[in-house]
Amino acid sequence: MEREKIKKIVAKHRHEKAAILAILHEIQEEDKQLGTESLNYIAQLLMMPVANVYGLASFYSAFSLRRKGNTEIRVCTGISCHIKGSDKIMGTMKSRLNIEIGETTWDEKFSLEKVQCLGLCAIGPNASFNSKIHAHLDEDRILEILKERMEDSE
Ligand code: FES
Repeated sequence: MEREKIKKIVAKHRHEKAAILAILHEIQEEDKQLGTESLNYIAQLLMMPVANVYGLASFYSAFSLRRKGNTEIRVCTGISCHIKGSDKIMGTMKSRLNIEIGETTWDEKFSLEKVQCLGLCAIGPNASFNSKIHAHLDEDRILEILKERMEDSE
């Protein structure tokens, strides 16, 4: 992200170290990643050790050090969804998008992640497309959802 944009976001939070998570969230939201240069600059602006900023950016799953797609697909691989076939859902997504977990498609439209639980175990297997959660999935249904998302993004 451009330094001027980062500077504005940090200034909005009055250069407060306590606002570091909010700052990281805003940058992640806008830039779809927390790049190395951004993290270094944030550390500089907040006068924090770079290692601390990296530590936070790599600890929370909401943050990504690599660019994410416009649509972030998160397939739940928690125990309840696993029992109900989440491996097949994940395999279908990997094969259709031609990416592995943690990767983003070449056109930056989709990225694929796994999560441990989306909090809706009873109606799994589940996956989320950005903030929308889809339940009772099977391979056909997730392909339908993906197709709809692909059409929407064209
Ligand atoms: S294990 Fe998948 S929603 Fe809880």
